[in-house]
Amino acid sequence: MREQGALTSSWANTGPAPCGDARVGQPSFVVRSDFIKRVTARDRQRMYRKGSVVFFLVVATLSTVQRSSLSAKGQFRPKRGVQEDPTVSKRAPFVKKGPFQDTRSFWNDRSASTKIAGALEARALPQTWDVTSSNCSANPNFTGMAWFSGLEPNFKQFLLYRHCRYFPMILNHPEKCSGEIYLLIVVKSTIPQHDRRDAIRRTWGREQEVDGKRVRTLFLLGSPSNGQEKVNHQKLLEYEDYIYGDVLQWDFTDSFFNLTLKETHFLKWFSAYCGGVRYVFKGDDDVFVSVPNVLEFLGGADIKDLFVGDVLFKAKPIRKKENKYYIPRALYGKTHYPPYAGGGGFLMDGPLARKLHVASETIDLYPIDDVFLGMCLEVLHVSPVKHNAFKTFGLVKNKTSKMNRDPCFFKSMIVVHKLLPPDLLHIWRLVNSDLICSQKTVIQ
Ligand SMILES: *[C@@H]1O[C@H](CO)[C@@H](O)[C@H](O)[C@H]1NC(C)=O
Ligand SMILES: *[C@@H]1O[C@H](CO)[C@@H](O)[C@H](O)[C@H]1NC(C)=O
Ligand SMILES: *[C@@H]1O[C@H](CO)[C@@H](O)[C@H](O)[C@H]1NC(C)=O
Ligand SMILES: *[C@@H]1O[C@H](CO)[C@@H](O)[C@H](O)[C@H]1NC(C)=O
Repeated sequence: MREQGALTSSWANTGPAPCGDARVGQPSFVVRSDFIKRVTARDRQRMYRKGSVVFFLVVATLSTVQRSSLSAKGQFRPKRGVQEDPTVSKRAPFVKKGPFQDTRSFWNDRSASTKIAGALEARALPQTWDVTSSNCSANPNFTGMAWFSGLEPNFKQFLLYRHCRYFPMILNHPEKCSGEIYLLIVVKSTIPQHDRRDAIRRTWGREQEVDGKRVRTLFLLGSPSNGQEKVNHQKLLEYEDYIYGDVLQWDFTDSFFNLTLKETHFLKWFSAYCGGVRYVFKGDDDVFVSVPNVLEFLGGADIKDLFVGDVLFKAKPIRKKENKYYIPRALYGKTHYPPYAGGGGFLMDGPLARKLHVASETIDLYPIDDVFLGMCLEVLHVSPVKHNAFKTFGLVKNKTSKMNRDPCFFKSMIVVHKLLPPDLLHIWRLVNSDLICSQKTVIQ
């Protein structure tokens, strides 16, 4: 199944993918044992659809307001947040051959990694979410400091609460990680983006079992940010979770600068519940993912400390104040970021995710989540691997390029950013139709 020969030929394959999609309109969902047994799953789904239409009409206006504030998340592509050093980034020294092979790390020094691994064993990690109170007040230490008073309000807010590392859970699904799971898909989302979650459940995020390998999907959310909408949005989300049972929610505000909290909370959650998970795909809710390609890639990648994605090397923090992605020197003084993968979508192995959790607790939070993860990898001396089948910094620059709509292109990729629900559903149908791709696409 996984010989190298089969690998390339399947890239030019015709016919539907293993998870072929004749039933796009029927989302898969998990039936939770505590559900009311009288109501069949199908009925609930209908109820949900009806209910959500009504609810969302009511809250549509304010949603829009909130969405526009939250959409900053979507625009928060580090490509624009950094200046990539072109001389360095073009080189991808770790990807040597074949589409999805040889993802070796170049670090030979494993001492930090070993230390963390030791810490991991010494410190019995909690088996449940052990944070029950979110009583966290602003850090008084900054008052009177000149450099601090000169900062923009959003950075002030970030710094004042940077020490508040963990918050209680509102929605939890420990059962999602029970047993052996080959691939856990986790998707960062926000409450108003229910249509994106819906599209993902109907397409690439469908839970399935391929050759005995279980694939499970979860969404990661914080709490709604604006007061009036809070209650309605929360009710809607709880209803959605009641239907699908796939939402992890924590009690921190889902804001631009709080994305790193989503990272750290997930790593902690994973360390508590997911001992049987082999690999993790983590991504945004506006990407296209080819799960068959992910599985094929992982089938040939038995590597320790796997971390692969759309990696930037020697990216520079933006220092121009007028830039939206500006980072003051007081917050980050070095000239370059450590190598990091775009948060749009990357793959890592389960044991590494647990080590990243331990590493994350040794450093200060940083407002850019994917850079923060790069910092954690640096602590572990693990180098993320760049792979060209991950396009998380946007499609080819030429917007009218044919590639942007070519299903054969999508079929050959692992992750493509950025695709909103209608486009996602459209491409999904094409990719899973009797698509004939004449040209062999070998991504390397
Ligand atoms: C929350 O923290 C404040 C200040 O540290 C303290 O006075 C208060 O009693 C705490 N409340 C709870 C419920 O723990
Ligand atoms: C404030 O400073 C004191 C003394 O250096 C330190 O012990 C404390 O942890 C700091 N508080 C926060 C929230 O970082
Ligand atoms: C992050 O969330 C916490 C808890 O809701 C909040 O107190 C804090 O202000 C938020 N930080 C930012 C930068 O939005
Ligand atoms: C973009 O791509 C289209 C189609 O491939 C081509 O006709 C056009 O010239 C390209 N534009 C630029 C600016 O490269």
